[in-house]
Amino acid sequence: MSALMQELQETVSFIRNKINKEVKVGIILGSGLGNLANDIETEFEIPYHEIPHFPVSTVKGHKGRLIFGKLNGKDVLVMGGRFHFYEGYTPQQVSYPIRVMRLLGVTTLLLSNAAGGVQDNMEVGDLMIINDHISLFQINPLIGPNEEALGTRFPDMSEPYSKALIQKAVSIASENNITLKQGVYCGVTGPTFETRAEYKLIHSLGGDAVGMSTVQETIVAKHSGMDVFAISVITDIGIREEENTITHEEVLQAAKDAEPKLTLLFSGLLASL
Ligand code: HPA
Repeated sequence: MSALMQELQETVSFIRNKINKEVKVGIILGSGLGNLANDIETEFEIPYHEIPHFPVSTVKGHKGRLIFGKLNGKDVLVMGGRFHFYEGYTPQQVSYPIRVMRLLGVTTLLLSNAAGGVQDNMEVGDLMIINDHISLFQINPLIGPNEEALGTRFPDMSEPYSKALIQKAVSIASENNITLKQGVYCGVTGPTFETRAEYKLIHSLGGDAVGMSTVQETIVAKHSGMDVFAISVITDIGIREEENTITHEEVLQAAKDAEPKLTLLFSGLLASL
């Protein structure tokens, strides 16, 4: 067995000792979007540093714990805080928890993130369903020997984000008077926010939002055959901020303000699965 499979099995059996059932839905909460965890009837919660082979999150606003419980009556495994390439983790470490989730039985992955708005008419606080992505220098996490037990060497990426889940989210949003945008998420490495020239480049490439996460996680989720739904909370409009600078605090605040809409959407999606 490869070293990766060995490690995965150790992580999975550690978590399995605490959950004695299959869990079908996994959620990853982005920067400033951790409050959804408060709505979960928690059965158990494990800080990342106690989980064998799990990386440890270092960013402010990321609590770094794995939560298992019920949201809207459905079992869910939630990562409160994710791992980013800019923290110094390898792309394989960033996406390690996705593989763990898959081996625990997760087949649907809901992702959230904070992102910069690039699309025309975008406003801070908007929610944007990600309907496709462009990896701008985010290293592909599948580089290296392929783990056949997990997925194929050359995964198809024609529908990285499930059209069926997008449709469901659109109808949940309209029932609840939540306005949603849709668009292409550009994944960058960070940790710098973009220069004005880079925001313009992303706009001209067809990017509608830009952020430092999600793409590597989605790639690994698709590799292992999961359905993915991802949504960005637009926390700043770098492309238009002629005089303003962007700060991490501003990003966290805008994410926090928009968070209730996101919780509603995720719990609606969960109930529909
Ligand atoms: N750029 C990249 N990542 C981000 C941004 C941004 O403007 N806002 C929040 N995350």
